[in-house]
Amino acid sequence: MELKKVRSMHGEVTIPGDKSISHRAVMFGALAKGTTEVTNFLQGADCLSTISCFQKLGIEIENTPAHIRIHGRGLHGLQAPVEILDCGNSGTTTRLISGILSGQSFPTTLTGDASIQKRPMRRIMEPLSLMGADIQSIHGNDCAPLTIHGASLHGIHYTSRVASAQVKSAILLAGLYADSPTSVTEPTISRNHSEIMLQSFGASLHTDHTTVTIQPEPCLEAQKINVPGDISSAAYFIAAGLLVPGAEILIHNVGINPTRDGILRVAQAMGGNITLLNEKKDGEPTADLLVRYSTLHGTVIEGDIIPTLIDELPVLAVMAACAEGTTVIRDAAELRVKESNRIDVMVENLSAMGVEIEGTEDGMIITGGKPLHGAIIDSKADHRIAMSFAIASLIADGITDIRGAECVNISYPSFYEDLKKLSVH
Ligand code: S3P
Repeated sequence: MELKKVRSMHGEVTIPGDKSISHRAVMFGALAKGTTEVTNFLQGADCLSTISCFQKLGIEIENTPAHIRIHGRGLHGLQAPVEILDCGNSGTTTRLISGILSGQSFPTTLTGDASIQKRPMRRIMEPLSLMGADIQSIHGNDCAPLTIHGASLHGIHYTSRVASAQVKSAILLAGLYADSPTSVTEPTISRNHSEIMLQSFGASLHTDHTTVTIQPEPCLEAQKINVPGDISSAAYFIAAGLLVPGAEILIHNVGINPTRDGILRVAQAMGGNITLLNEKKDGEPTADLLVRYSTLHGTVIEGDIIPTLIDELPVLAVMAACAEGTTVIRDAAELRVKESNRIDVMVENLSAMGVEIEGTEDGMIITGGKPLHGAIIDSKADHRIAMSFAIASLIADGITDIRGAECVNISYPSFYEDLKKLSVH
C-alpha cells in the first residue's frame, strides 16, 4: 500500500474495542453459566480466532454487529473438539486457551500461522506441566503445534521470569481447575485485565504487589461487558496527533488501565500535549484523549514501565525518530518474540527511511530530528509494524510503500479508513 505525506490531521475518531479484553470476554464467558453479552467487541482476526476455537469446543457464540453473545456452559462444560484448534496469529489465544485446556478431561491439539509456530511456548508449558498437565510441542521446538492432555491439576506458586500477562493468565485459568490455590509472581506487573474480569465473573482473586493468587472451582456467572477502546490502537493516532504539524485529534473512549497507559506517560515526558477528558473510573477506566501537535524530545524508556507499553514500542520508536535528541529503549527483549522480531524489523525499516537507529539486545537507541523519507517497508505481516509505518508515512517526504499492509486486520480492521478520515491532504 502506497501512502504519502499529509498537510495536517484533524478530527475525531472512535477506536475499536480492546483486543486483550475482547479475547478474555469470550473465554471467560464460555466458562461461565449463562449468556454473556459483549458490546464493542473487537472484530479483528485475532479475536475471531478465539471465537472459532471456543465454537470448536462446543460453545455457541452469536456474532452480530450490535454485540456478541456467548452461551457459556460452566467451568466443566467444554467438549472435546473434533478438529485441531487454529489460533491464527494470536499469542493471547494460544497461551490463554492452553491454561484452560490443561484442566479438561480430553486431549486437544492447537496450532497457528507461521508466526505463532515460531513463538516461545516453553513459558507456559513449564508452569502448566508443573500443575500436572501433559503438554508436548509436536516438533519438539517448544513452539506450536502443541498437544495438551488435561489432568487433575495441582495448585502451584510460580515465579515467572517474564512479566507477561499471557503467561500469568494461562496459569490463573489453569488455577480455576486446581485442587488448591494457585499463585503467580512476575518480575513487574503486566496488564491485569484477567484479574479484573475474572473477579467480575465471580472468581476469587487476590493481588499483592506482583503476586496474584486465585482460588479454584468458582461458580462463574455470565456478565454484560462493554469493551473499552484499545489504547494500543489509539497509540497510532496519539503519535499522528503529536507528529503531524498543526494536528489536533480527539480520540474517544480509550481504555486507560494503569497497566496499559505507559504510552501516555512517555508521550507526555517527551513533551507531548495530551489532555484526558471525560474520565470514567468504574471497572476498566476510560477517557477521551485530545492530542495536539507538539515538539518532542528524546527520553529513556526502561524498567517497570515496559510491560505497560510493550505493544506501543514500535510506534514510540517512530515518535523517537521525530524527536530532538536521543531516545534509549531498554529492558524490552520481549520485543524479539512478538508477532515479528520487532527490534530487528524497526531497525531495518526506520533505517530505510533515513533514521539513525541502532538495535541492542533488549531495545533500541534512536537519534531523532532528521527528516524521514519514504521507503519500501516490509511489515513482516506484523500488524503493529504496518500501522507504525503508516504513521511514519504521514511526515515522510515522498512515497512510503508498506508491504503486507493488510495485516492490520489482526487488531484494527478499519485502520486505514480511520487514518484517511483524519488526514488533510
Ligand atoms: C497480551 C499481552 C501481551 C501483549 C499482547 C496481548 C494479552 O503479551 O503483547 O499483545 O492479551 O494478555 P505478553 O503478556 O506475552 O507480554
